[in-house]
This record gives sequence, structure tokens and C-alpha cells, in this order.
Amino acid sequence: MYPPETLKKLTKLEKEIFALRLAQHLPEATYALQQLYGRRPDFDDWMQRFIGQLATAYAQRPADLRLLDLQHTHQPDWFQRPEAIGYICYVDKFAGNLKGVAEKIPYLKELGVTYLHLMPLLQPRPRPNDGGYAVQDYGRVDERLGTMTDLAELGRALRQNGISLCTDIVCNHTAEEHEWAMKAKAGDPTYQEYYFLFPDRTLPDQYGRTLRHIFPETAPGNFTHHPEIPVNGQPGAWVWTTFNNYQWDLNYGNPAVFGEMLNIILNLANQGIEVFRMDAVAFMWKQMGTNCENLPEAHAILQAFRALTQIACPGIIFKAEAIVSPQDVVPYFGTGRMAGQECELAYHNSLMVLLWSMLAEKDVVLATHSLEKMPITPPNVAWVNYVRCHDDIGWAITDENATAVGLNGFSHRSFLGEFYAGKYPTSWSRGAEFQVNPETMDRRISGAGASLAGLEAAVANNDSHQIDLAIKRFLLIHSVIFMSGGIPLLYMGDEIGLMNDYSYVEDPLRANDNRWMHRPQMDWETAAQRHDPSTIAGRLFAGMQKLVASRHERHELHAEAATAAIWTHNDKLFGLLRHSPRGRLLLLGNFSDHPQTIMGQRMTELQFGGSIRDVLTGREMVGRNNITLEPYESMWIVGF
Ligand code: GLC
Repeated sequence: MYPPETLKKLTKLEKEIFALRLAQHLPEATYALQQLYGRRPDFDDWMQRFIGQLATAYAQRPADLRLLDLQHTHQPDWFQRPEAIGYICYVDKFAGNLKGVAEKIPYLKELGVTYLHLMPLLQPRPRPNDGGYAVQDYGRVDERLGTMTDLAELGRALRQNGISLCTDIVCNHTAEEHEWAMKAKAGDPTYQEYYFLFPDRTLPDQYGRTLRHIFPETAPGNFTHHPEIPVNGQPGAWVWTTFNNYQWDLNYGNPAVFGEMLNIILNLANQGIEVFRMDAVAFMWKQMGTNCENLPEAHAILQAFRALTQIACPGIIFKAEAIVSPQDVVPYFGTGRMAGQECELAYHNSLMVLLWSMLAEKDVVLATHSLEKMPITPPNVAWVNYVRCHDDIGWAITDENATAVGLNGFSHRSFLGEFYAGKYPTSWSRGAEFQVNPETMDRRISGAGASLAGLEAAVANNDSHQIDLAIKRFLLIHSVIFMSGGIPLLYMGDEIGLMNDYSYVEDPLRANDNRWMHRPQMDWETAAQRHDPSTIAGRLFAGMQKLVASRHERHELHAEAATAAIWTHNDKLFGLLRHSPRGRLLLLGNFSDHPQTIMGQRMTELQFGGSIRDVLTGREMVGRNNITLEPYESMWIVGF
């Protein structure tokens, strides 16, 4: 099955463990891979090859990571526990380089972080490289940040402090400077099969009819012309580039590509990466006549990666970066036979969008309805809940959900775009429109969380009342992500209220991508004020720490427990209920700038009519007596 010498140096027990895992996970792997390559006459050969790769990686897996495999397989809910707290940053912006990140571990521990996502850190093409999402060499760490040895050492240091390391696998595309792409450029047919190269516009035009434009302003279209590249002996090629023209989409129809990416994952797993953020997974399979997003084969690729890695390094998990509509995102946890066997984590993009929507509208009806309609998730997975990330916010609110609550989807999305760009009369936000599509008038938004929540304008106006409201707004949406099922993910600097950084406009290689405005440098001077309650940083940091500590106390918040949106019968009061045999916990959040009340009768119906306590403040109340929340206040209510 695999060359026996591969496992020669291992003990009998180690070999038996490998055989056991193979027997356990090969059926799912085969099931998934058959959907991709089952019709090929050489299917069995490819299976043998993949298994050989696993054996090699297993044999090379360092002892401490084998122990990690054991720990995680014995505690399969390690990432679902209430203690799980995430933090995301760019290595250079947070701490200069990988060694610098290790020095910041005490800071991360102050925030209770157990999961650290470092943005792309493998060798990218020279700038522009989409913030590292155009990888030139997957075998090397970006030389500005350190080496593979530094990465492995950092992983070890983090593990010793109870923090799991996560990084990106840019699996949908490579940089056009990657070795495979260079060979394809030179006309090598083997490597041309790694990508999608077309001799003329015939097929690109046919595909193009049903494709979306991801960067309509800066990289319109989905194909890039290279007159110098020969295809079938003739000069001139059109290359599939969903994102920027220097990001070449990989052809997973070719099992060699799958095998290469499998090796990349296995190698990084053996350096100590525990969580793999699988980038742009929605786009990994193409089929004529479709939008080439979320196709069943894209799911099969992820399922196959998971089943196979369970054999060599079962301590790792996958996170789907699928920023797609609510109905399309849940399947990345796996459905049907593969439920719970695809990605363990996925971004809860809908919740993020709805949080900003509730703030702008001061109304919770759309959010409550939309969350009610979300498909249910398998019990062994977790959402990653966030309010901001390094990308823009796309207003993923469906027409169907908007219509159901009496809104026009297009108008509401336009309102949110205008509101957060600061163009709406009552707006407090300082954001900017990103990639306005003139055909659909779809407009996404850039901006740091604190600036979108109103802090930047309030500080500029020296308006202490507005500063107060902005801090409360920002803490309110964090309260929801800390309470909703899954891992709350803090975006670097949000814990101290870092605002937009406009310096990117002076850098010609960044000026056309305003996502850089919300990718600031960590401000360690401001961070030094975090224990001073009279400062903005101090108030936010203490607020975040409170949420962390409150989460720790509550087993009701284990990700396995269902999260349900609740009608409070007050359109400005958001309700979210966690309920399971672990207990019941109700979040109430006032999304308006006036006090709001939930009636005692409603509290009684929700089975919180008796003695209740707000976990966040320790305040005790009687539910049937009506509960009033101050502007932007939230409560985590339990009965006692
Ligand atoms: C993901 C990243 C985004 C990048 C894109 C292409 O969506 O989050 O920043 O532009 O993939 O790699």
C-alpha cells in the first residue's frame, strides 16, 4: 500500500496506530476522492500515492506533535470549549517578525487567547501580493518574518502557553511567480495542467457569462491575457484569475494539484500549525454554466483533505474561508454522510453583517429573522464569530430575508453601504466604499471596527458623549460574538480601539486597495494604557477582558450547545438563547441609544421569569418584573 520502508524507523505501536487510522478514515477519503477523480483509470494509483504521502508525513511527525494528536483526539471538543478565544493579526504589524510574536505571548494571555491566527506568512511574490495571498513558495516562510525553524519554535512556545497556531493555506491559487506557474509560462504541458490556460476567448467567454467579478474596480473579469505564453504550441494564453491577475487559479481537476496541496498541508502540520484557514474555498472547482462557487466538488476537496490528514496528523483542524450567503456557508461543515466531516470551523459572515446592520438600523427584526432561518450545524463543529477581519464587509443579506421583514434587499444593502461610508445623514461611521460594482451597484465597505462603530468621528469632534456611545456599541457587538456559539475572534487592535490608518494612500502599491485602512500597525503605546480605566483603550480592554472571563465561567457556551435567535417583542432588543443539556443562557442586547425594556411576560414565556442573574455584572433580578437595558447595554442572563 505504501513503501514499507517509509515507516521502518517507527515502533510497532506507532505502525499499528497508523494502520488503525488508515482503516478508520480511508473510507471517507475514498468516498470524497471518488467524486473528484473516480472516473479516471489511474484512480487507484493516485490513492496509493496519497497514502504514501501520508505515511511519509506520519513517519516524520515530531514527537511533541504526536502527543498533540493524542491530546486533540482524546478531547475532540478542544476548540468548542467556552475557554476558546481567538486573535488574528499580521505578523509584521503585530510584532515585526515571528520571534517578536513569541515575545507578545504574555499580552495574548492577558486577553485569554487560546487560538492565534497569523495572516499569510509563506513567501509571497514581491508586492503587490494581496497582503500575502499570492504565494510564490509554500516551502518557505516570508523572509521578512523569519524561517520555518522560527515558525516551528513559535508554534511550540504558543502550545506551551495553551495557544493553538493557525495560518492560511492559500489553496485556490498561487502567485504567477510560483515555480509551477513559471513552468506553465514556459509552455510545459504538465504544469499547464496545474492551472486553467485557454488558447483564445471561446471558453473564457462561455464561463464568464455566469461568473461574479470579485474585484470589479481593480481586477475586472476572471481571465488574464498573456500573449507571450504558448498553449498547444501557439502563442497567446488566457489564464483563469478569479482574484487579481497575478493570482492564478489552481486546477483541482488534476489529481497532481490535490497531491501537491496535500503535501503543503502535511509539511506545515509537521511544523506545528494546528488550524488551517483554507482560503477562498468556494472557488476551488469550476463547471461551465455555474457561478463556479460552492460546487459539490469544492466540498469533496475539503472532505478529502480532512479525511486524509486525520490519518497522518489528526491533531489539526480546518477553517473554511467561505464568505458566501447564509445557505451556502453551513455546508462547509459537511452535509449528509459527511456532516461534521469537512471543516471544523467556518466564519459566521452572516452574524457579522447582521451585527453592523442592527447598529445602523437600530432594529433587530432582520437579524432575528435571518438567524432563525440559518440551517442548523453539526454538533462537533464551531463557528468563528467576528466583527471585523482584514477584508471588506460585503452586505450578505438575502433579498428573501429582507422581503420577509418588509425591507427591500437592494435598498437595505445600499443603505448599509452609505451608512458605513459615512454618507448617510445620521451616520457616525468613518468607513469607505470598496469595489463598487457599476453593473450591480453592489458596494462593500472598508474601515476599522472602532471607526465603523463611531469612535473615530467622536474623538475627532472631542465629543465625550459620542465616545461613550461608540465604546458601548463596539462592546455590544463583541458581547454577541462572545456569547454566540463558536470561537470569538478578536481582530488585532480592536481590543484597544485602533482606528483607520490612512497611510496606505501614500504607498503606490497599496493605494488602490482601501482594505489597508483597516490593517493598522499595532500601537503598543496605546496598548500600554490598557490598564488605565480613564482611557479609551483601558475601557475597551477591560470590557473585552470581562467578556473573556464571563465566557470562562459558563459551560452553557460550549459550541455544541445550540444558538437560537429569540423574539423579545421589542424591535430594538436583540435576543439570543444558548440551550442544551448544559443549561440555558439568554443574551439581551439593546441596539438603540435609548433604554429598552423586555416585558416580564415575555421573560416568563422564555422561562426566565424567576430569579435571574446577569453574568456580566453579577446583578440579580426577577424576570417577571420587566427588564430594562441602558443604551447599547447587553446582559447574559441565567436563572438561579
Ligand atoms: C480571501 C482573503 C482575501 C484575499 C482573497 C484572495 O478572501 O481573505 O484577503 O484577497 O482570499 O486570496
